[in-house]
Amino acid sequence: MKAVILAGGKGKRMNSSMPKVLFKICGQTLIEHVVQNARETNINNIAVVTGYKGEMIKACLGDSVTFYEQHEQLGTANAVYSANDFFKDDDEPVLVLCGDAPLVDSVSITALIDYYFTNSLDMCVLSAVLDDPVQYGRIIRENNEFKRITEYKDASGEELLINEINSGTMIFSSGKLKQALCEIDNNNAQGEYYLTDSVEIFKSKGWRIGAYCVNNPDVVLGANDRYDLYLCESAMRKKINRELMVKSSVRMIDSATTYIDRNVQIGEGCTIYPNTTITSGSSVKNNNIIRSSFISSSEIGSDNVIDTAVIEDSVIASGCNIGPFSHLRKGTNLSDNTKIGSFAETKNASIGKNSKVPHLSYVGDASVGERCNFGCGSVVANYDGVNKYHTQIGDDVFIGCNVNMIAPIEIENGAFIAAGSTVSKNIEKDAFIIERSKPVKLNKALLKQKK
Ligand code: UD1
Ligand code: MG
Repeated sequence: MKAVILAGGKGKRMNSSMPKVLFKICGQTLIEHVVQNARETNINNIAVVTGYKGEMIKACLGDSVTFYEQHEQLGTANAVYSANDFFKDDDEPVLVLCGDAPLVDSVSITALIDYYFTNSLDMCVLSAVLDDPVQYGRIIRENNEFKRITEYKDASGEELLINEINSGTMIFSSGKLKQALCEIDNNNAQGEYYLTDSVEIFKSKGWRIGAYCVNNPDVVLGANDRYDLYLCESAMRKKINRELMVKSSVRMIDSATTYIDRNVQIGEGCTIYPNTTITSGSSVKNNNIIRSSFISSSEIGSDNVIDTAVIEDSVIASGCNIGPFSHLRKGTNLSDNTKIGSFAETKNASIGKNSKVPHLSYVGDASVGERCNFGCGSVVANYDGVNKYHTQIGDDVFIGCNVNMIAPIEIENGAFIAAGSTVSKNIEKDAFIIERSKPVKLNKALLKQKK
């Protein structure tokens, strides 16, 4: 099976200079969703028709698909015609997908293909019944027999009352499609060459046509304006969350406020509380408890508790305790059983097993060994205003409250730094360091007299 994806239009209703199919929902562009849907149906011979700012679409998809260029945006039939060389002259079936319809998934595509073959059709359209069919093309049936599709701008008042719509997803016998494309004109309200007109041409030639109506109306949503985009994203989010709950046994307290991108892996036994976002490029293993956190492009091991944290481009092992209110910035790497506590920030820092940064600390550009403890308010001073420097901390290091470690510095195993110290020189193994200025005693009464 081959598929051609139409992505040549600008998407005027988006009011954006970016091609519509490059808008993102649930972590990837509309066109990437459509390509993924085709691949999940085991269709790997994919052509994409580009037109408006096609270079941007090519940059997004790379060389995994074949591109055809539509030189002028003259309508969906003209877009398919631009890929004419992709189609054979025989009965090989070809699937047509719209680049702005990201929810047409492998289940519905497979059902459409089955319907096409079971009924020995020459073309078949995927349709759905919508409560509010707005600007979709209407499926016109007479005595229940599929006759044609009327675009909403060309539809009569009576036709506009029809709730069965064209999803834009169609399957054709390629040789016949090639013939029909040559007969489509642009004599309609928009002056465009409509692919939907192929239905009547097929019918007039006695070729067999059909419309397969899906049960789930969310599948056919197309993103034409920003409200549609919102509807598509909400529907996809619902689908992602449902699959995570049903197939991966993830417990979600409130799916409506849980934002997980497509292709994020979450292991079984996890509990996700409301207001959590996990973006694409992340993976989460088993039995984590995640409360109201933002996790992007990060790998999370198993059995962690993550509470009200922001975690970006980081790797978390297992059994860690993070938050509440922790910020793990790019390049944080936590080993097993570490703790990053309230109002603690890490960046480009690896923290060894069983080490703790429990409260109000900053650890940036540092390697920290195992079983270390950072006292409250202790800070790695990595930046002198011009350059950033690395800090190396060994195993079993005890860092008292409000200690400043001025990088670059190496603190060897077992060192103990007393509270309030500012250290700027390397510290030897097992050393006890205290750096405090001597208290100055003044006589209060004397001071008042002097004033
Ligand atoms: C189209 C259908 C409509 C259907 C709806 C489903 C036609 C004439 N209409 O309308 O029946 O209900 O999809 O979502 O087919 N494109 C090109 N080149 C062009 C024009 C469009 O490549 O010259 C691409 C667009 O980038 C888009 C897709 O084709 O990905 C559909 O075009 P769009 O303008 O969104 O059509 P709709 O008005 O949604
Ligand atoms: Mg559309």
